[in-house]
Amino acid sequence: VKSRGVLIAGNWKMNHGLVETREFFRLLRETGPSLDAIEKLRSARLRAWAFPPMTSLQVAEAEIQNLVFPFRIGAQNVHWEKSGAFTGEISGPMLTELGLGRALTGHSERRQYFGETNETVRKRTESLLKQDFQVILCVGETKAEREAGKTFAIVEEQLRVALGIVETSVSPIAEYLDGRLIIAYEPVWAIGTGLTATPAQAEEAHAMIRDFLTKRLGPAVAAKTPVLYGGSVTPENADALLACENIDGALVGGASLKAKGFISLLEAGARALG
Ligand code: PGA
Repeated sequence: VKSRGVLIAGNWKMNHGLVETREFFRLLRETGPSLDAIEKLRSARLRAWAFPPMTSLQVAEAEIQNLVFPFRIGAQNVHWEKSGAFTGEISGPMLTELGLGRALTGHSERRQYFGETNETVRKRTESLLKQDFQVILCVGETKAEREAGKTFAIVEEQLRVALGIVETSVSPIAEYLDGRLIIAYEPVWAIGTGLTATPAQAEEAHAMIRDFLTKRLGPAVAAKTPVLYGGSVTPENADALLACENIDGALVGGASLKAKGFISLLEAGARALG
């Protein structure tokens, strides 16, 4: 039983400008998922989200209005301030104006290439949650960290700082977390490499994350907080991953770019719901 349903989220990264975004949704509309998946999407047990690049957000938001099932759009990166001298950034209110209420924080590519730290991830996450956004907070260890046996320590530290948890306290933002926070466990060595974590490796990390959330956010909030797996998820390996008890969905890069692949992932999500 998937008490939190199944969420399939596509992270398009720096792919799909206006033309490709329109084409994706045209194909999604024309091909469409199965009636079973559509029914599960309509009942919100199955959820479909995509994170296009900034310049495609508005057209994506317009395109989803033409689908016969719910589909939600979010942004890949949002600043914690509402406006100001922050060249290259966009703010929560700017997205709200477009009708968007979702965002990613802490993606490993932001951490690796753009100087994102646990502290800036905390600022973005907290600000967005306070602005009523749904946030997918990404965490995960590098290959070297895993090989050094530090996976749990690294992921716990990322979660602890991002959620503002000091020492043994519970999170000061727990009151904002009623189902709007989503964690994505994305081992860095699995992202874009084709080296998917095995279902056993993923499940082990997810169980640890769930345990952490229960202790630090309280059982009621934790029970509403989905934990997604990300890192080389494909239509071929999605069933085995989604069958794991503590995996509530997938954050997918490469395999989410084509409508056909996205639909196959939604079908896997529908199967996991039984
Ligand atoms: P990938 O990316 O599916 O292409 O490995 C996952 C992610 O970065 O969210």
